[in-house]
Amino acid sequence: MGLVRPLRGPEAGRSAEIVIDVLSSGSRWADQEHAKRPAGPHADLLLKDSEMARRRSGRFLTHLILSTAAVGFLASFVAGGASAYPGGTPDYQTDVGPFCAGCHSSTAKEDLSGLGERATAELATNKHYAAIRSGAGKYAELSETDRARLIEMLSAVDRNSTIVLEFPAQVAPGETFQVTVKVTGGAGPTVGVGLVDRPHRFFARPASALGWKVVGAPTIIGPKGPQRNWIERRPERKGRNVTFVNVEEIRSSAEDDKWSRAKIIYTLKAPSAVGDYPLVGAYFYGTETAVGLSTRMDPERGPQPLGGVLGRSGRVKFSETAIISVKPHETPPVAEIAP
Ligand code: HEC
Repeated sequence: MGLVRPLRGPEAGRSAEIVIDVLSSGSRWADQEHAKRPAGPHADLLLKDSEMARRRSGRFLTHLILSTAAVGFLASFVAGGASAYPGGTPDYQTDVGPFCAGCHSSTAKEDLSGLGERATAELATNKHYAAIRSGAGKYAELSETDRARLIEMLSAVDRNSTIVLEFPAQVAPGETFQVTVKVTGGAGPTVGVGLVDRPHRFFARPASALGWKVVGAPTIIGPKGPQRNWIERRPERKGRNVTFVNVEEIRSSAEDDKWSRAKIIYTLKAPSAVGDYPLVGAYFYGTETAVGLSTRMDPERGPQPLGGVLGRSGRVKFSETAIISVKPHETPPVAEIAP
């Protein structure tokens, strides 16, 4: 099919097995998908064989990519549980799109506008709290009263987890300027903050896609002051001018009504073309480890959410959309000199 080339070198044998596995599950999926396609009984007959093959391979390619991602995803849990998602994304030091946080829930339906029922299903009340309410999985450890109380406290975490963007209303084309993203709350031990182009879980792109260029490493100010550990792990020669960062040392507590604060200062270079450009802050945070009822201590990995790694206790939230006008600053008219 020409999609998968044989691998060479010492890894070849091992990788080939994975590839074959992905291949077979991929084609099985393609067949099933094809079989359940609701198209009219004659629809396929109208397609020439070659067109059919092309369509099949298109579907197959899509799934191959998905499968490969899934393999990598699972491998990351097996190989490095400690670096998996609860705890933030210590290793993903790049521009991040909120689509990656598939397990997370949303707090606003608009964040998935245009996606029909999915938008409602992604809301914390349905995706996360429904499991707690019904005592599914690990939540069965809690009494019904405690589960109701837990939902209340988790809602408080959401209310107190905020993100705002401070930005200039107007900048000149190519001008270098600063925007500050301020966040509160988030369970901790970390939160993630990024700059994107729109407040949408699946459609947002990193802000750099619109021409907002990050200049130098973002300044990360955690609850106890400036932090450099996380960003400095990204090799300097690769450039540290990324739109997404992790803030460490976050520790919020719903019981104590105590909420962490952090801010990130980005230096940006404006796009060169005149226009009104959107800019949005994206906030990735956890909820369960801010509440005693839903926190379990792991001797090696520290506080873990009761709902587990595959739970729905993470959130994605967006700031308001900032519209920054990119146009030359007006030069003040030269004052006339009175005779
Ligand atoms: C397998 C499910 C899953 C996926 C996929 C996922 N997360 Fe999460 N994430 C979680 C859970 C569960 C928590 C919540 C921990 C809590 O409730 O305290 C979380 C919390 C977080 C936190 C806060 C850290 C913490 O421990 O509370 C950040 C930052 C984060 N996720 C970023 C991301 C990013 C970025 C992506 C995409 C690269 C992503 N997540 C994908 C499950 C996931």
